[in-house]
Amino acid sequence: MSCPALPEGFDFTDPDLLQARVPLPEFAELRRAEPVRWVPQSGNIAGFQDEGYWAVTRHADVKYVSTHPELFSSYLNTAIIRFNEHIERDAIDAQRLILLNMDPPEHTRVRQIVQRVFTPRAIRALEERLRNRAHAIAQEARAHPGPFDFVTEVACELPLQAIAELIGIPQDDRTKIFDWSNKMISYDDPEYAITEEVGAESATELIAYAMNMAADRKQCPAKDIVTTLVAAEDEGNLNSDEFGFFVLMLAVAGNETTRNAITHGMHAFLTHPEQWELYKRERPETAAEEIVRWATPVNSFQRTATQDTELGGKLIRKGDRVGIFYASANHDPDVFTDPDTFDITRDPNPHLGFGGGGPHYCLGKSLAVLEIDLIFNAIADALPNLTLSGDPSRLRSAWINGVKHLQVQAG
Ligand code: HEM
Repeated sequence: MSCPALPEGFDFTDPDLLQARVPLPEFAELRRAEPVRWVPQSGNIAGFQDEGYWAVTRHADVKYVSTHPELFSSYLNTAIIRFNEHIERDAIDAQRLILLNMDPPEHTRVRQIVQRVFTPRAIRALEERLRNRAHAIAQEARAHPGPFDFVTEVACELPLQAIAELIGIPQDDRTKIFDWSNKMISYDDPEYAITEEVGAESATELIAYAMNMAADRKQCPAKDIVTTLVAAEDEGNLNSDEFGFFVLMLAVAGNETTRNAITHGMHAFLTHPEQWELYKRERPETAAEEIVRWATPVNSFQRTATQDTELGGKLIRKGDRVGIFYASANHDPDVFTDPDTFDITRDPNPHLGFGGGGPHYCLGKSLAVLEIDLIFNAIADALPNLTLSGDPSRLRSAWINGVKHLQVQAG
């Protein structure tokens, strides 16, 4: 049965779709009528290439695809990051060094190594410094006499500082690292006037910086995380190339995602004042997960079928692209009671904002949850009467559910 509600030519990867309509009402139609649907496509938008892709919209199916890497490979274009020719390697080779684009057994090997960075102990060790940062950010914002941009003044900094702390980037280098990270992820939107070339150059410079760091620690081992990852050149460690791309991956995966979760969370609180009052009073631990469900900063990822297989009553052929839409799964009424209600006490909350639970499940989840907790605690202390001064201005992207600006006032 074909879903009658989708007009001819409708495409979930159209970057203009997410401008104002989140969650997309079309997802609800598809979940009900045709949860696995072939969407024909022309051109190459958001990395979805060829003649079309399967749109997978139900929670259970998104989980199934995510947890069966032997059927649905990440090898082809799961995450496209552009590089320029100075990277001195074939661009396709470069994509292979990105964790998100790897399949087992290569993925298993690299993931086991980089997991060392994200142990509960390593995250706990950052907590105090990040708490202080969060409070300083909120205090500075409080000093604004008039309206200010929540994105640049509050949401931006903590995610970047968290990655810098995690890797041990010296304080003096942070400004340039932040600048490269921001340029790398901003060129899709015309407002930033950053060309694709500048974005690619920034990625290349960040990788070169990280590779230098690795080379340095190999010569002079220190008691830090870089040394832990690269010290010995063997199977159990990262080589310098792999380390360079790992840092790039963190800058892409851990930066804009968390910034958008924080901004969407603030907007959700200010448009649901009873939830903000509840938060300020009780600070429930469940809030961060609901913010990520509500925000779903990563709208979708894609996989490629490795063999003919059936899903949702449809025959998916080897080589077909499969788009897994977390933004739809997170509003699936088969899983969530009142899915379109923002409820910070929701428990359990098996949302797929951090992925569908397979081998690529978000490596930085506990860090992201900590950051969201810390910043909202700080805002509740320093800016309890924050008010909205305008509508959010959205990022033009099909992949990231992003907010560029959100005007607020300390109140
Ligand atoms: C992977 C979301 C924060 C590092 C992912 C995936 C999603 C995601 C959807 C893909 C999962 C899959 O394919 O199954 C988010 C969201 C965040 C966030 C919504 C914030 C609210 C972070 C942070 C870091 C991070 C703070 C690190 C500093 C990564 C890495 C991967 C990943 C390295 C790739 C894992 C792999 O391929 O094995 N994230 N993420 N993320 N994330 Fe996050």
